[in-house]
Amino acid sequence: MSNPKPVKRPRRLRTTETMRSLVRETKLDLNDLVNPFFVVNGEGVTEKIDSMPGVFRYSVDKLLAEIKIIYDLGIKAVLLFGIPAYKDAGGSSAYDSNEAVQRAAAAIKDRFPEIFVVTDVCLCEYTDHGHCGLVDEGRILNDQTVEILTRVALSHARAGADAVAPSDMMDGRVAAIRSALDREGYVEKAIISYAVKYASAFYGPFRDAAGSAPRFGDRRAYQMDPPNIREALKEALLDVEEAADIIMVKPALAYLDVIRAVRETVNCPVATYNVSGEYSMVKAAAANGWVDEQRIVFEQLIAMKRAGADLIFTYHAKEVARWLQQIS
Ligand code: PBG
Repeated sequence: MSNPKPVKRPRRLRTTETMRSLVRETKLDLNDLVNPFFVVNGEGVTEKIDSMPGVFRYSVDKLLAEIKIIYDLGIKAVLLFGIPAYKDAGGSSAYDSNEAVQRAAAAIKDRFPEIFVVTDVCLCEYTDHGHCGLVDEGRILNDQTVEILTRVALSHARAGADAVAPSDMMDGRVAAIRSALDREGYVEKAIISYAVKYASAFYGPFRDAAGSAPRFGDRRAYQMDPPNIREALKEALLDVEEAADIIMVKPALAYLDVIRAVRETVNCPVATYNVSGEYSMVKAAAANGWVDEQRIVFEQLIAMKRAGADLIFTYHAKEVARWLQQIS
């Protein structure tokens, strides 16, 4: 006896690219991408970052040239990290109006007013010990750190940033930053909170890029423990209550379940950060010819969207924009 022939044939919808594109459930859109940049002081500087092929540290003039390129490719949002001229225990260069991030934000808004400028608010690149907060006898001082973070956020807002993105993981910082911004009349400046940020090995290349590795210990007393998801929802809900406009989950790929859970829990946009380690692993494998870079990147980014991310911060942004141009 032969087997009955199937009446329902899901393959019918996969027969041609036209058919597949008609029924495609998730789309990748340049409007959803945010391109991170590392900014240094000085002029004419383009420094390679060995662990992140294709990513550079730029001085403000070089950054503007690069931003012109991505803007012409259709990317409209950037995230700025600074490598300061000096570091101290209190991270005071983080709120110095003459530092790289503040000058970069001002210059971008001046040249490209339509670009949405987000700044990373944290102390780890600015403290001599490399921790994201003030340290006393090996402990991170939460509330004193929040005071400093509000100063940093204000200095970014004054420079012209459209949104500030606190990534330090101190308790109460979103509420404190919101009230500081509002007090100075910056009611329209948004807060993109790294609400759900795990203590992750995937940040390895970033710490090399930004010179922000902690001198002692690690970040486990403030960043989240990877096995926890219920706690992710607690952090996300708290930050929404504190008036965060967008909630971020970071890293992305090992945390797709967390993105989905957060998406279903909050009613604001959810962002995810496709972090340095995720980027560098793809680059290394592609350089060896072990994977097809373009297909791997699209597959990973679409997975983040399918999991529920509305926005994606990614170092692949420029290449994705180029590939999309070739495809269309
Ligand atoms: C600063 C910060 C980090 C990243 C974003 N903001 C590093 C860290 O927490 O150690 C990671 C970004 C990346 O890996 O691409 N606190």
